[in-house]
Amino acid sequence: KKDLWILGIETSCDETAVAIIKNGREIAANVVASQIESHKRFGGVVPEIASRHHVEQITLVIEEALHQANLTFSEIDAIAVTEGPGLVGALLIGVNAAKALAFAHNKPLVPVHHIAGHIYANRLVTELKFPLVALVVSGGHTELVYMKEHGHFEVIGETRDDAAGEAYDKVARTLNMPYPGGPHIDRLAHEGTPTINLPRAWLEEGSFDFSFSGLKSAVINTVHNAEQRGVVIAPEDLAASFQESVIDVLVKKTERAVAEYKVKQLLVAGGVAANKGLRRALEETFSKHPEVELVIPPLSLCTDNAAMIAAAGSVMFEKGIRAGLNLNANPGLDI
Ligand code: KG4
Ligand code: ZN
Repeated sequence: KKDLWILGIETSCDETAVAIIKNGREIAANVVASQIESHKRFGGVVPEIASRHHVEQITLVIEEALHQANLTFSEIDAIAVTEGPGLVGALLIGVNAAKALAFAHNKPLVPVHHIAGHIYANRLVTELKFPLVALVVSGGHTELVYMKEHGHFEVIGETRDDAAGEAYDKVARTLNMPYPGGPHIDRLAHEGTPTINLPRAWLEEGSFDFSFSGLKSAVINTVHNAEQRGVVIAPEDLAASFQESVIDVLVKKTERAVAEYKVKQLLVAGGVAANKGLRRALEETFSKHPEVELVIPPLSLCTDNAAMIAAAGSVMFEKGIRAGLNLNANPGLDI
């Protein structure tokens, strides 16, 4: 059987990324041009700046990916691209690049949902076993997704306000740390002790939904109250307390979802899956559930990349999913 080569393009936020995947699971090229340095001084991603950087980078990143894989366009079977959700101007650069390539080289175009991409990063680690649950924790999303087969996604729980990564970034900002704050809080948390009592939003009995805005506000209020009263709170203890609260809710709800849906695998996905405390807590909890296989991708496949888009695109391609040259960016796309 002939090899399947899929080229993936991801530009939904602040990384211009292109990757090439062989037979759905092997990384032949994985190029990520990060814009973090340009957004840092604004304390977050500036959409207009993101779009401009994508325009400047996209052609170079595509060429670099082909070079890494030692391939020419004639050998690529299809082009997969993130169609949404994300920043509309940023998404449009990737979608238009993909359409131009598909048209010029007469290749099929495969639309990919960004979260499906995050989930399929796990298939670059191991083969998926259904049914499974994926815990998706990123800057824009916090979701528990049930999958009974390839390409089938059922959201069983989601955040009602802030995403986990968003809460990390806002708390980091309150503690005067640079964007993106997640990794800084993670590092600081390991130097502190969770001595500060912070809320945990369990929501209604049985709910798999999340809420992090109350926790975020509690941290901000704690900092402001301390400042007003001239009390010093050790930032590492606050980071540790915040991190413990986030992880406690994420892990307990995930543990319950895994039991209720009787799954064979638990996948972890998204930028916050890079969190050392979360990884350790999941490993510890699921070591007590040997019937469930815990899969956590390496850090570089947790944060935004195009290998995950090409991995999801490979499965969608084989399922016959195609987009026409009228494909549009869809910033609010549902999975
Ligand atoms: O998946 P991602 O790269 O982009 C989105 O699709 O949102 O996730 C980025 C998010 C940011 O909020 C960042 O602060 C967070 O992931 N993040 C972390 C860590 N590394 C990245 N949060 C907590 N701990 C980390 N180690
Ligand atoms: Zn993402």
